[in-house]
Amino acid sequence: MITPMDCLAVFAGLWLLANSGQALTLPADQVVLGSNNDDASEIAKKIQKELKEAEIIPTVIDDFTPSLTLQAEWSSDNSALLGNTLKPKKLQDAPSISLYDPSGGNEFCTRSGKTYVVTLTDPDAPSRDNPKWSEMCHWIAAGHGVSTSSSTPTSTGDCLFAEPLALTELEEIMPYKAPGPPEKTGKHRYVFFAFAAENGTTDKLHPSKPKDRQHWGYDAPGKDGQTHGVRDWAKENGLVPVAANFIYSKNKKQ
Ligand SMILES: *[C@@H]1O[C@H](CO)[C@@H](O)[C@H](O)[C@H]1NC(C)=O
Repeated sequence: MITPMDCLAVFAGLWLLANSGQALTLPADQVVLGSNNDDASEIAKKIQKELKEAEIIPTVIDDFTPSLTLQAEWSSDNSALLGNTLKPKKLQDAPSISLYDPSGGNEFCTRSGKTYVVTLTDPDAPSRDNPKWSEMCHWIAAGHGVSTSSSTPTSTGDCLFAEPLALTELEEIMPYKAPGPPEKTGKHRYVFFAFAAENGTTDKLHPSKPKDRQHWGYDAPGKDGQTHGVRDWAKENGLVPVAANFIYSKNKKQ
């Protein structure tokens, strides 16, 4: 169960992480209480920057501006924080997923009940230097966003800021396969995306199940030497990315 304090901590943590360098110039409470769109676009830009630095944009996904932040938590000490390194043995069971709307306000309320698809992909299979099996599909799950509190919009239409949108009753389309980076293959990037339907439907999504985990079922690499993966699959299913997060993990035998 995620408490409001956790949301604040995660949110402030993400913000601070995304702003490393100038992290101490803005107190966390100010970040949390400030629900203006400047903060939200700053956060989006920082996430985008981390994704580019890790070459997730444009290798894994085309450039996009995240509108939500994604929390993936395996246990209280093991969450995805835009490029932290976690041990494979801590990742055995599927993480719980929450989405946060950094803009606060009405936007958040209207997102409750929307339908999302969460994916986990490894573009570094079997290694980042030799991604001949890339991408490896580790998880596809669809679910509705449900606010974890009973808060409803106030008379002015505002919502509480930094409320998580927990993805409940996730329906697994491709069952979770725990990251298991082979020996001597260095650090792998494990990348989460949350997708929404491009047409804005609130109906439950039923995206296709790849016929194989390797290459997400596509023949790969293609003629152009490009590997195939979540980007091809999302396009085929009319899905657009709205949030991302990632970790690194490696086998302890290197
Ligand atoms: C909207 O997109 C979803 C996902 O591709 C699809 O399942 C659904 O049929 C579409 N709905 C409409 C009304 O086009």
